[in-house]
Amino acid sequence: MEISALEKEIMEADLSTQEAQQRFKQRFLKRGGVLDELLAQLRFLTPEERKVRGSSINRLRELALQRLEAVASSHSSAEGATLGDPTFPSLVIQPGGRHPLSMVEDRIIRIFQRMGYNLADGPEIEDDWHNFTALNFEPDHPARDMQDTFFIDPAAGILLRTHTSTVQVRVMERQSPPIRILAPGRVYRNETISARAHVYFHQIEGLYVDEGVSAADLKATLGYFIRSFFSPHTKTRWRASYFPFTEMSAEVDIECLICAGEGCSVCKHTGWVEVLGCGMVDPQVLRACGIDPERFSGFAFGLGVERLTQLLFGIPDLRLFGQNDIRFLQSFRRYGCFT
Ligand code: DAH
Repeated sequence: MEISALEKEIMEADLSTQEAQQRFKQRFLKRGGVLDELLAQLRFLTPEERKVRGSSINRLRELALQRLEAVASSHSSAEGATLGDPTFPSLVIQPGGRHPLSMVEDRIIRIFQRMGYNLADGPEIEDDWHNFTALNFEPDHPARDMQDTFFIDPAAGILLRTHTSTVQVRVMERQSPPIRILAPGRVYRNETISARAHVYFHQIEGLYVDEGVSAADLKATLGYFIRSFFSPHTKTRWRASYFPFTEMSAEVDIECLICAGEGCSVCKHTGWVEVLGCGMVDPQVLRACGIDPERFSGFAFGLGVERLTQLLFGIPDLRLFGQNDIRFLQSFRRYGCFT
């Protein structure tokens, strides 16, 4: 039960009869009472959380004692009932903390800002053109399926964006190169919610288009990012991959931080964890967005913010990010100046 609910109960309990006072004692002050039970649960918390919660529980106990004393003294004094000592400090208000996803997003943004990237934004409710067609998805590409995509109006192709690559298209449509943008945002997919999948999560899209941009630039940029984000010693592995909107396409793995490459459940015993997708922007995509692929080239990448946060902090279950549990949020308070 929540501390604040118990506080309310203590403050409002009817103590007008002997019987009621007895019940009150039983509930709050005797062995096996609610406070006793809460104290017993402390052992499941971290030492830091234990301290905060333990002192709240002790204050509840003092508050309960105070109320009983107040009743006793009101019987013996001519002044009637008093409601405890007004100078008694109030219960600790439990503040939350910055969400770890926001902290990690800021950290990523700062690293790319150092390389001259600007922020760009786009809507979460999108159309088929920006989410799929301009990005070179074939009409029958499986990602367009209702199984994966939340459609708002299927006939009109209005949907919740499934990735932040939509912002690439929007920026290229309205701006000519050089373009160097970073687009953080929420994306949606029709998945069964589990420890590993959710119906919404956060991505950061990056795009760099100019004359003469090459795969060497891509590799150097993302290598710098990974070393800055994790550590200068983090090992990376580049794998050839496929995305409709890039040609060549690659995925980048880092050596698993949880087991140092030994193999564990997080890396599915491979020693490596995928952290991003990237590639050279397909000339088809440049053309669809009104940019001349004969003159310009570019690279793009997509990062999963949840994935990076999980790796950095060792968070096992994706669902924790969306539950707004104050104990989860408080456990990141010590990283207040982290970014
Ligand atoms: N949009 C991809 C996804 O959601 C991620 C991605 C991969 C973005 C490669 C890119 C890229 O810009 O080049 O899975």
